[in-house]
Amino acid sequence: MNIQNPQKSDVAPAKHTSEITDAEESLKLQEAQSVVDSESATEVAMQNTLLTPRFYTTDFDELDAIDVTPVREDWDKLIAQMVSDPNKGHFKKNEDWDHVDWENMEPTLKKEFLDFLISSCTAEFSGCVLYKEMKRRGNNKDITQLFQLMARDEARHAGFINDALREAGVAVNLGFLTQKKKYTYFRPKFIYYATYLSEKIGYARYITIFRHLEKHPEHRFHPIFKWFEEWCNDEFSHGEAFALLMKTDPKLTSGKNVLWIKFFLTAVYSTMYVRDHQRPAFHKALGVDPDWYAHEVFTKTSELTKQIYPITLDIEHPRWQRGLEKMQKANADLAVATKDGKFFAKIGAQARAVSAFISLITIPAKKHKVPTETLMRPAY
Ligand SMILES: [Fe+2]
Ligand SMILES: [Fe+2]
Repeated sequence: MNIQNPQKSDVAPAKHTSEITDAEESLKLQEAQSVVDSESATEVAMQNTLLTPRFYTTDFDELDAIDVTPVREDWDKLIAQMVSDPNKGHFKKNEDWDHVDWENMEPTLKKEFLDFLISSCTAEFSGCVLYKEMKRRGNNKDITQLFQLMARDEARHAGFINDALREAGVAVNLGFLTQKKKYTYFRPKFIYYATYLSEKIGYARYITIFRHLEKHPEHRFHPIFKWFEEWCNDEFSHGEAFALLMKTDPKLTSGKNVLWIKFFLTAVYSTMYVRDHQRPAFHKALGVDPDWYAHEVFTKTSELTKQIYPITLDIEHPRWQRGLEKMQKANADLAVATKDGKFFAKIGAQARAVSAFISLITIPAKKHKVPTETLMRPAY
């Protein structure tokens, strides 16, 4: 795999990703810093399964044509807050960054934690790539400004995770990923549903861990968790922006599109459940029961998404937890069958995963009236 030469970089070394407002510049710096390409990390980031973060592309012209006039007042408020850049300089190691003993970390925990960091970095980077592409291709001032601001934040988030990974001698090759990772095409409306949800669930995940570790600092085995509060506020704003984008066209959240919303809610929730259950040592070290954590995150996310979605999933329904467990078991069996090259076991596990998903998505959703006020403040 290609190894980058630091001398080739034209980025001034004194700058840190936390200070940079231009996403392109940030990524250039991150690439220059990853002088030692870590093949295994990049391989993890390159994986394209249902459970790994993907890269997206869309119809940028359609996105560019959005008129935010119907939500102008809220829009200007949100943009002004993002322009004020409250987290500039935040995503940088300081005196709160404790020493991490990577060498002596328990091997299973180390493996799962690295996997967590690499997939988080890929997810942040995936947002950055999509947002900066929109900024580059668009002409609509409102839209390009929003996407530039969001790309700025995601580049910082990825940069900060890369700082943490470098200490473990690991680097994700961002340039390689940009060129070689497969891009999934989604129509703009699917980008709204998927990205809005991933921003809001990202907020709920980060804040739940942050609040838990506030109460149980003895479980904070890595300093990066101390940064989660401001971090999730960025994701919160990004989610707000997508809520406003969807609000410009009421058709997006009514009629048969409600079925799409239900599909994305079910897919995003169940994917999170299955993926988190693949990291038992990581959750044990945090002192978090993954079932409790999932329930907590789903509850918060449902409460938040009521701002724009007319339905929430009934996560208290008896079939909900059962369906998630079936799905998780099917996925675990699928991984074993794939590794052992057992064709029929693989087909069987896939069929069970599909049937678990059907049982989840057919649970009747809860309906409610969407409030006229859309913008919210992070309250958890
Ligand atoms: Fe982010
Ligand atoms: Fe985000």
